[in-house]
Amino acid sequence: MLSYLYILGKFVNLLFNIYFRAALKLVMRPPHLRVFINYFKYTLCRLLKNEIVSHTPANVVIYATKNCNLNCPFCFIGNDLNPPDGYKYQLTLEDYKKLSETGFIKNALRIGLLGGEPFLCKDIFKILELMKTQKKIITVVTNATLVKEAKLEKFQETAPDILGLSLYKSNHNDVALVYSAMKNKSILWIQTIIEATDLALIEKAIEFCLKIGCNNLRLSNFYPTYGENMDKVIFDDDKNFFRYKTAINKKYKDQIRIDWPFPIARKILKKQCLQPINYVHLDNQGAIGACFMRAPNEAIHGNVFDDNAWNGKFHIDLRRKMNSKGTECDPVCRYCENLSEDLYKI
Ligand SMILES: C[S@@+](CC[C@H](N)C(=O)[O-])C[C@H]1O[C@@H](n2cnc3c(N)ncnc32)[C@H](O)[C@@H]1O
Ligand code: SF4
Ligand code: SF4
Repeated sequence: MLSYLYILGKFVNLLFNIYFRAALKLVMRPPHLRVFINYFKYTLCRLLKNEIVSHTPANVVIYATKNCNLNCPFCFIGNDLNPPDGYKYQLTLEDYKKLSETGFIKNALRIGLLGGEPFLCKDIFKILELMKTQKKIITVVTNATLVKEAKLEKFQETAPDILGLSLYKSNHNDVALVYSAMKNKSILWIQTIIEATDLALIEKAIEFCLKIGCNNLRLSNFYPTYGENMDKVIFDDDKNFFRYKTAINKKYKDQIRIDWPFPIARKILKKQCLQPINYVHLDNQGAIGACFMRAPNEAIHGNVFDDNAWNGKFHIDLRRKMNSKGTECDPVCRYCENLSEDLYKI
């Protein structure tokens, strides 16, 4: 009897899993046929391990701005954050309409807004309104510090399908406020960065989630931007981390769904990141960033308004390295938790 109840519990948990609920949204509001055709081409490319592709990315995430009101020292946007001419990179409704005319947006299954801090973007609600008519999965990730009062009401009206709230030491009240206002509007998760040198943060984040009633917590491994603070990265031989994980899973079993950080391999045995064939970042002018760790940069990665933009030298090289056997990998990828296990799989 107990084991039946256990299986039933797991099944209910699966039903409320983020991906399942997002897929359900797609069934209720199916995207255009071209999105399915593009996704089919992507699946073929994945099977055949093609380096030159005939599809466009299923995931397109747009920097609503390159500016941020916080200045987290670890931020992987690095020197691309808060550029001196930042105002030029603020996404306007007109910019978004132009981007929407490209195959990149038309074919995408998911469109995300990111930054910088997306809520510094003045047109964000108008853009979200337009996005909602495009029959895509819409995602937003925010530090939650700027979404208050009238903005929060507007956000409830234009709620994305999936909302990620980043938890830092300084923004617990902001995350709690936005969580409570949005919990019945979007599929929500709280995400936070875990450092090998401060594993106690895990339990603090869990307790915070339980206090506000959130049952989806995503823990990310620390990415050492520009190779700094390597001691904070969780590696696959970190016995402390695995001990801690077992103890926490036992203690909080069935209370919360935790996506654990993927430890970085000391020795690279497999490369599984799908981002070179399924994801781009864009800025408001269409400049491409080749994956979520690479900020948009037209000179390196091209621009969506160019012909065959996603088959430039950089993209082909990145796909070749990702497909190659052995330990060769791009230096930016080396300590990225997505390298050995694609965390998104879409
Ligand atoms: C770059 S931020 C942009 C959106 C928004 N400003 C925020 O903080 O949510 C997107 C996500 O990247 C994560 N991130 C930034 N730097 C990171 C790093 N060095 N290692 C792991 N995750 C990082 C943040 O915690 C955040 O959840
Ligand atoms: S709030 Fe987000 S974008 Fe801003 S500095 Fe922190 S991680 Fe980077
Ligand atoms: S492994 Fe990380 S850095 Fe490398 S392509 Fe994938 S997401 Fe980008």
